[in-house]
Amino acid sequence: MLNIPPYPSSSNGQLRKLVENRQPGFSLEQAFYVSQEVYEADIQHIFMCHWLYAGHVSKVPRAGDYFTYDIGDESLIIIRGRDERLGAFFNVCTHRGSRICLDSCGHAQSLVCPYHQWVFQTDGILVAAKYMGADFDRSAYGLREAHIRELEGLIFVCLSDTPPDFSRVEHDFRAHAGPHRLDKARICKSVTYDVACNWKLLVENSRECDHCQVGHPELCRIMPPTSREYVDGRMEEFRSLGLETRRFLFQPDTWHKVERYPLGPGMISQTMDGTPAAPLMGDLPRLDVGVFTFLIRHNILCQFVGDYGDITQFLPLGPELTRVQIDWLVREDAVEGRDFEMDHVSAWWQTTMEQDNRLSADNHAGVKSSRYRPGPYSPSEEQVEDFVRWYIRELGTALAARQT
Ligand code: FES
Ligand code: FE
Repeated sequence: MLNIPPYPSSSNGQLRKLVENRQPGFSLEQAFYVSQEVYEADIQHIFMCHWLYAGHVSKVPRAGDYFTYDIGDESLIIIRGRDERLGAFFNVCTHRGSRICLDSCGHAQSLVCPYHQWVFQTDGILVAAKYMGADFDRSAYGLREAHIRELEGLIFVCLSDTPPDFSRVEHDFRAHAGPHRLDKARICKSVTYDVACNWKLLVENSRECDHCQVGHPELCRIMPPTSREYVDGRMEEFRSLGLETRRFLFQPDTWHKVERYPLGPGMISQTMDGTPAAPLMGDLPRLDVGVFTFLIRHNILCQFVGDYGDITQFLPLGPELTRVQIDWLVREDAVEGRDFEMDHVSAWWQTTMEQDNRLSADNHAGVKSSRYRPGPYSPSEEQVEDFVRWYIRELGTALAARQT
């Protein structure tokens, strides 16, 4: 765990009371969505302690390529070193603390601090420190590292000194992702939205589909309600193609969920008309493979069909503001205009997420009212309850640890 000073005792006490009084089966109290103290606790105890998706390897194909990843007050430099290995370093100069990389991405032979020009190698080692004198021990002032893992082309980082176990997500994700070869894909499009709502409302929205019939007509066209018989038959078909069909659901001690399911009858891809939009991904046996989805509890929501993938991240910017970033992946050699049209690939999910962003912002606006009170979840909102239960447990455990 990071060594973070305790909250002022009144805040800590109020927060603990909020956590302890949470009523199971009901949405959260207003403070969880609007208070600065809760937001800071969320950053410290959820986002600083867990693995986070930072980006796709196609953002850093060559040695020296880098991008920055910001969360809360922190900024990381994700850089491919001269030995081709990926590193994650806090974007903080070890001289007097300046940010080093000011651009969101770029290419560098070495990292030079813009303030007094200390020079760091791409592996974080300090190699030049102007004005420090000949006997200065540079070896003690390398860049501070964060944990980093690459999983099938997806880059994860953890800012905690003691990151949670990564092995189960590695196993479960690989089982499904293998033939999609996401490491051989590239980002063909990215969009960013700053949505006026608390990050938890976006996550909650993504965990239920009671809003889909009215809120997402395009989504429902591609994934209409189907019979158990239809789903079982399609899953059997996918199994016979050698695809993974086991469901790895959220467990009390895991933070990921991976599963495959079929699209509606006659639908091949998640596009506006259900037709495929881009060339077959990786080593898949055919385009019609349903969709495999990958969620981590607090940070991303991904879908991978036979011809493309999309990765949606939720990044809190404040108690009432969340950045939603979506990346679309196609196979790395696919050329726009020749092999795919961008709109055909992205319109379906972009439309759906814009609808969700609006629903979540409207949800937040209502939650701010003096007349808001936690309301009951329906049986089909059990995944929302599961998320909220996990969140409350994480926060409760962290707050109890602060007390001791
Ligand atoms: Fe970076 Fe001085 S703060 S060189
Ligand atoms: Fe939705």
